[in-house]
Amino acid sequence: MSILVTGGAGFIGANFVLDWLVHHDEPIINLDKLTYAGNLENLASLEGDARHIFVRGDISDTILVDQLLHEHRPRAIINFAAESHVDRSIHGPGDFIQTNIVGTFHLLESVRAYWDGLESEFQQLFRFLHVSTDEVYGSLGKDDPAFSEINRYEPNSPYSASKAASDHLVRAYHHTYGLPVLTTNCSNNYGPYHFPEKLIPLIIHNALAGKSLPIYGDGQQIRDWLYVKDHCSAIRRVLEAGRVGETYNVGGTNEKTNLDVVHTLCDILDELAPPATCNLSLTSYRSLITFVKDRPGHDRRYAMDTSKLERELGWRPRETFEAGIRKTVVWYLANQNWVTNVTSGAYRDWVSRHYGA
Ligand code: NAD
Ligand code: DAU
Repeated sequence: MSILVTGGAGFIGANFVLDWLVHHDEPIINLDKLTYAGNLENLASLEGDARHIFVRGDISDTILVDQLLHEHRPRAIINFAAESHVDRSIHGPGDFIQTNIVGTFHLLESVRAYWDGLESEFQQLFRFLHVSTDEVYGSLGKDDPAFSEINRYEPNSPYSASKAASDHLVRAYHHTYGLPVLTTNCSNNYGPYHFPEKLIPLIIHNALAGKSLPIYGDGQQIRDWLYVKDHCSAIRRVLEAGRVGETYNVGGTNEKTNLDVVHTLCDILDELAPPATCNLSLTSYRSLITFVKDRPGHDRRYAMDTSKLERELGWRPRETFEAGIRKTVVWYLANQNWVTNVTSGAYRDWVSRHYGA
């Protein structure tokens, strides 16, 4: 038995692969295109571990995906592969359409053919788990109830629209072809290996470098933050016991304004790495906060109602925001080499050395 993950060199995918191999001995085949967001350094601790088989490739490459399915005969596929950054989708939506929609379609076609050819016992065991986002539901007003699985889809950015389209395709492959699918829609993750283009790692990185801390608009937008390991445990639980064809909301019930998050980060950094230790003549990192032009179409608030996942599958997040955010800062302080390799682009040297230009 084995499972196949796509996008397992990115932030959540890499955390999932590492987490999986702590909990299972079942091999994991990791198919990742290694875009700018894919980083094999995230998986360095698995070097020489025969349970992890890394394959560089695109989910749209039908010949490669068919070959992997035929060769490894996985009992499940978990689809993390995506273009994931909202700001990038605003500057250039093309890659988002290509991977998140067309890529998911090609992957589903390969998986459908593979699943069709399985013996019936194995067919019943098989699962395709699609990892999606709360952003497909759109934006909430201040007093609106949190998103539940029956909220209508109202995506507002090219990123969320592309994820919404992929969710619809996954749903259709279940209803039309009977493919045993599961979908998880999760809120904002944070934790180790988070690429420093996203709010939390960007703020930590900029603060330590004495650069300004950009807050879009008034900073009063609200996100529901979930420690990445809790997302991994939710995915494992849904894979294990989720009802086929269902979607499950995942979230931390940690609603915070962006400004609150940035203040918290500055306060923890002031304590653990005071500006003077970074040769900065500031009394607090808070003085680096700068309000900048808002993101176009910026969603105001996300919040997740996770009662279905709690009720049906007994999942609950383990990490409080206070503990998780402190752990995250500690991880970034202890892994400045990782950050430097990412921000300098050095992590890509390995890719060109290994795969050629
Ligand atoms: P990420 O950008 O860090 O990683 C994406 C990974 O996918 C990278 O390793 C990249 O190389 C790979 N990839 C991209 N295109 C590919 C392709 N065509 N074929 C194969 N691999 C490809 O993203 P992330 O933050 O780890 O998010 C993972 C998934 O979780 C995404 O589907 C995202 O929509 C979803 N999600 C993310 C969050 C979050 O807060 N980050 C929250 C909810 C859901
Ligand atoms: O909600 C889940 C989503 O969370 C995932 O589906 C996405 O893949 C993931 O990138 C994330 O999207 P966000 O747009 O919420 O994350 P980001 O870290 O880019 O921004 C978080 C909030 O902080 C958002 O309101 C925009 C704001 N922000 C972001 C950056 C990068 C700033 O104010 N300044 C910044 O420089």
